[in-house]
Amino acid sequence: MKMMFIGDVVGSGGRKALLDWVPVLRRDHHVSLVVANAENMAAGSGMTGATVREISKVVDVVTAGDHVWDQKGFESEIRELANVVRPANYHGDQPGCGWKIFRNPSGGDYAVIALQGQVFMRECAQNPFVAVTAVLNEIPVRIKTIFVDFHAEATSEKRAMGYFLEGKVTAVFGTHTHIQTADEQVLPGGTAIIADVGMVGGRRSVLGREVDAVLKKFTTGMPNRLPVVESDIQLDAAIVTYDYMTGRASEIRRISVSGAPPEADAAV
Ligand SMILES: [Fe+2]
Ligand SMILES: [Fe+2]
Repeated sequence: MKMMFIGDVVGSGGRKALLDWVPVLRRDHHVSLVVANAENMAAGSGMTGATVREISKVVDVVTAGDHVWDQKGFESEIRELANVVRPANYHGDQPGCGWKIFRNPSGGDYAVIALQGQVFMRECAQNPFVAVTAVLNEIPVRIKTIFVDFHAEATSEKRAMGYFLEGKVTAVFGTHTHIQTADEQVLPGGTAIIADVGMVGGRRSVLGREVDAVLKKFTTGMPNRLPVVESDIQLDAAIVTYDYMTGRASEIRRISVSGAPPEADAAV
């Protein structure tokens, strides 16, 4: 069984690239389920019910990170969105849920857990290592396949989480930095890890934002608007092969594509 995890989707250009590319990647890589972190898909910050419904034409599960509440009203909308998972280590009074079980029509139920890091990040209610331990105790034993989105800044914290969850989950995908890392690996315990999957955002950009605006901010130190790059988009993802009977991963491959998909007809 193969699944694909897609890094932070940025803006309407990112959403369009998803709609164009995911059907083609599903077909070419024999992927049966797709999870995407889309915390930046609404104008670069946060998500809305409409944008979740739009990308759900091609994506099964949507995960969120530190920008989850950036769009006004999403704290209400999230209650109606069955396929959205926000970090599990937020305060219990926050809306939405930190993990969920989904059905893969091609075989096997699977759980998706979202977590946020603590190193160089705004504070979370709970340590992610403590929180994920509690979540794993709640997930029914029959669920063998578990995917974790660890939305964190530091490669050290992400690498550590991979080892912490070795043999307990199928894969730990890092997100948040928008830069794909070259450390993908299947640990001997059958857990696939990668420190950061990357993003779906502009190739000439800084984390999906216009270069000139970002440079102005860095050079002058003045706060300014950072417009989202909506064209010439790259889509970064990782594809994991796993056994749904055991939940063990056997391979992880990272991919990055850009431009128009090879067969535009296949796009939704
Ligand atoms: Fe992001
Ligand atoms: Fe983030």
